[in-house]
This record gives sequence, C-alpha cells and structure tokens, in this order.
Amino acid sequence: MLLEKIETLLKEVSELKASNAEELEQLRLKYLSKKGEISLLMNDFRSVPADQKKVVGMKINELKQTATQKINDLREQFAEAEATSDNIDLTRSAYPISLGTRHPLTIVTNEIIDIFQRMGFTLTTGPEIDDDLHVFTKLNFAADHPARDMQDTFFIEQSKLNDVTKNILLRSHTSGDQSHYMEKHEAPIRIICPGRVYRNEAISARAHCFFHQVEGLYVDKNVSFTDLKQVLLTFAREMFGEDTKIRLRPSYFPFTEPSAEMDISCHICGGKGCGFCKHTGWVEILGCGMVDPNVLEACGIDSKVYTGYAFGMGVERITNLKYRVSDLRMFSENDTRFLKEFEAAN
Ligand code: DAH
Repeated sequence: MLLEKIETLLKEVSELKASNAEELEQLRLKYLSKKGEISLLMNDFRSVPADQKKVVGMKINELKQTATQKINDLREQFAEAEATSDNIDLTRSAYPISLGTRHPLTIVTNEIIDIFQRMGFTLTTGPEIDDDLHVFTKLNFAADHPARDMQDTFFIEQSKLNDVTKNILLRSHTSGDQSHYMEKHEAPIRIICPGRVYRNEAISARAHCFFHQVEGLYVDKNVSFTDLKQVLLTFAREMFGEDTKIRLRPSYFPFTEPSAEMDISCHICGGKGCGFCKHTGWVEILGCGMVDPNVLEACGIDSKVYTGYAFGMGVERITNLKYRVSDLRMFSENDTRFLKEFEAAN
C-alpha cells in the first residue's frame, strides 16, 4: 500500500510543472514542507513491518531527492528566464558603495604640505627606522643627552659594520630627515618632511607612543631669522585664518641656535582664554630656530657660506586645534564612527 503511494508520488513529482515562482512555491509547500506529502509518509512509515523498513525507507529517500531536485531545477529555470528577459531595469542604480574617508591626520598633513609647497618647499621623507647618528649625533645632541635614553627612545638593535657600531632605533622626531637630506644634497635646500615618530611613553588621552610631525628646513646664503618668522606667520594665517597672531618664545634645541617655540593665538577662543589654551590665549604648535653651524658641518655643508632655519610641528596638536579631538587615542583606534565625521573635510 505504502509503496504504491510512494510510486504514485514519485511519478507526480518527476512531472512537476510551474508557470511562475508563486506556483513553484506552492509545489514546494505541497511536497517538501514540514506538513507536506513526504513528511506525512513518515507517519505511515512507523507502522511498516521491520523487514520491509529498509526497502520503503530507500524509496522515500528517492522520492525526497527527486522532489528537491525537480523544484531546484524549476527555480533555476525561472532565475535564468528572468535574467534574460526584457523586463530587466538597466537604469536601476547599483548597490550603494560606501566610500572611505581620509584620516583626519592625513587631511591636516596634506594641508600643511600644500601651504609649504606653495612657498617653494619640496616634499621629501626620511626613514622611520633610523640610527642614532642621523637622529641625534649629526644634530648636535651631546653623547649623554637624555633624549638618547632608553626611556625616551625605542632602540631596536646594535649593528656593527666595518668596525662602526650603529644603534638602530625608531626615530623620536622627524629632525633626522634633515641630516639625511643635507648629507645627500647640496645647498640651497628647501624641504618639508612629514612622518610618524615614536617615543617610549605610556598611552593615555594626552600622550601616545607614536605621533606625527612635519619638519621644515631651509638652507641657503643669507637666510635669517626674519625669513623664518615670516614663513611661519604666513603658515599660521593660511592654516588658522587671517586674524591669527604668532608669538616666538626663546627655547633650546641642540640643533638650532638661537631656538624658539612658536605659539599661535588660540583658535578656539580667539585669544580670550579657554580650557584648551589653559586660559592663556596662546597655544604652542612648533619648535624652530637657526640651524646650528655644527649641524651644517656634520652634514657636509660649509657653515661659513650657508645659514639656514628649521622647524618641526606636531600634527596631532594642529588637528586638535582645528577639530577639537579630545583624546589622542582616537587617532589610532580606527573607529569608523569617528573617521566618518571627517567626510566633509575630505
Ligand atoms: N624635533 C623637535 C621635537 O621633536 C621639534 C623641532 C624643534 C624641530 C626645533 C626643528 C627645530 O626643526 O628647529 O620636539
């Protein structure tokens, strides 16, 4: 009895026909759903005598496979027919592709580069993995200067070549790019060098073990501090607006003499005083000075003929001033919700 019923169903499913997807779905429900014909057979299967179970079971399996195959074939035929039929809407837009956004530090670095390129500076970059010769020694750092200390600088290894020992390190500032460039090029030199730098600092909202700087260097005959001041003032006004004021405070760096730090009038409160500028109305953005003659000589440039100025600025600090990012860690977490906020600035 049961076998006959299975045979009838088998014949039925192998001749299935449907003229549209809706009909096909009805057929699927009729034969293959939980309450469909094939599931119902399973109820009868329980009362089949044990010696016939094997034969009947195999037949039910065959039925199930045939029905599944048939319905899949019909479904494929419909899909093909639809893809080749005339009713495809070729004007329909494709799936939206969400475009990425530039990182805020990239946006600001590009802006800095652009301003200096317009003033005649050439873009160049130095290595992130460098040695103490270029990052410290040629820049007039004393042998016992604290910046060389393991606590500040990430030292990687010591290499020995032709009896010369080199300490390989992650650069702690982009000023090393100055020594690389001066070694290979003759004056006049006018370069801008952006890049990542590393320091052995605990990560917090206000400090990070890596951050970004842009270094500038100009070496020529008769370069003076006045030239430096004018270039920096032009930069500040281009970057933060026409009304921006600058102030230079005497400072110390081993590679410049005299040295200064530059503040700009606080971009956030307009100089009136706010939390960001610690109520002083001024924010420090860079270090600068006249290139120390020792540095020129160490890099093969005649300090009796040439003078120069240099400056180095922190990109994170400038980005904070422009966009008020309160936590440095946000720059390296790659949270797309944060990055998306800079879509309009791209
Ligand atoms: N390298 C300095 C720093 O990391 C910044 C700096 C100061 C760069 C004075 C210069 C300069 O080129 O002249 O803090």
